[in-house]
Amino acid sequence: MSLLVLKDIKHTYKLGNINVNVLKGINMSIEKGEFVSIMGPSGSGKSTLLNIIGCLDKPSGGSYEIDGQHIEKLNDNQLADIRNQFLGFVFQSFHLLPELDAISNVELPLIYRGMSTSERRKKAKEALEAVGLGQRLHHRPTQMSGGEQQRVAIARAFVGEPSVILADEPTGALDSQSGQNIMAIFQKLNTDHGITIVQVTHEEEIAKHGTRIFYLKDGEIEREVVNEQPLSALIEEV
Ligand SMILES: Nc1ncnc2c1ncn2[C@@H]1O[C@H](COP(=O)(O)OP(=O)(O)OP(=O)(O)O)[C@@H](O)[C@H]1O
Ligand SMILES: [Mg+2]
Repeated sequence: MSLLVLKDIKHTYKLGNINVNVLKGINMSIEKGEFVSIMGPSGSGKSTLLNIIGCLDKPSGGSYEIDGQHIEKLNDNQLADIRNQFLGFVFQSFHLLPELDAISNVELPLIYRGMSTSERRKKAKEALEAVGLGQRLHHRPTQMSGGEQQRVAIARAFVGEPSVILADEPTGALDSQSGQNIMAIFQKLNTDHGITIVQVTHEEEIAKHGTRIFYLKDGEIEREVVNEQPLSALIEEV
């Protein structure tokens, strides 16, 4: 059974009395342990699709199953539980809380799990060490580079041991070396920890780090390519 199954997913935004059909019947199955890239031009519906995959938005039509659970049957609390237990999110603009230092940002998802403070701190520290930020535990977002902030955001995304990480243009705000570092971390999480990765990008070079690439155009999947030889990213030595 596939981990994520989308069948004929449609999405319409209503603007006044105008309906904008943004997704026009998406069929997609993602297996556990895949590293999937979704590519497409601006406005093709990539973020809309990722928000639906991440249960941040409900589709206007079609069915969506995560690990055999029908998402359309769940209420808001159940969806919040799925997001917290099963999914980790990474966004282009990091979405860190500015008043908190790195370790407190990373701890956040664990607070909802009812974990003790000392255990939370320990896990957050380990996650920051895993992304090479063991020396930045008490830096606040404004005291870190963009690439470092995104690594904090990734540590926050995987500290709760999710099955899936969803990333919307994770390298969009970064220089190319910082982007490489992010891809290297995703590949490590995918290969060593078995975390399924679904990333949205409009850069072919970034997409090619994935093992399968979906090309989205005008709200439809135009084609799908299995990438036999994903690019491998190297972490910059400092
Ligand atoms: N809340 C909204 N209300 C109305 N229309 C929207 C809304 N959000 C997105 N759209 C429209 O839906 C279409 C797809 O938007 P989406 O953000 O999914 O595109 P995208 O592929 O992620 O683009 P980009 O690469 O620029 O991020 C766009 O035409 C956009 O204007
Ligand atoms: Mg987008």
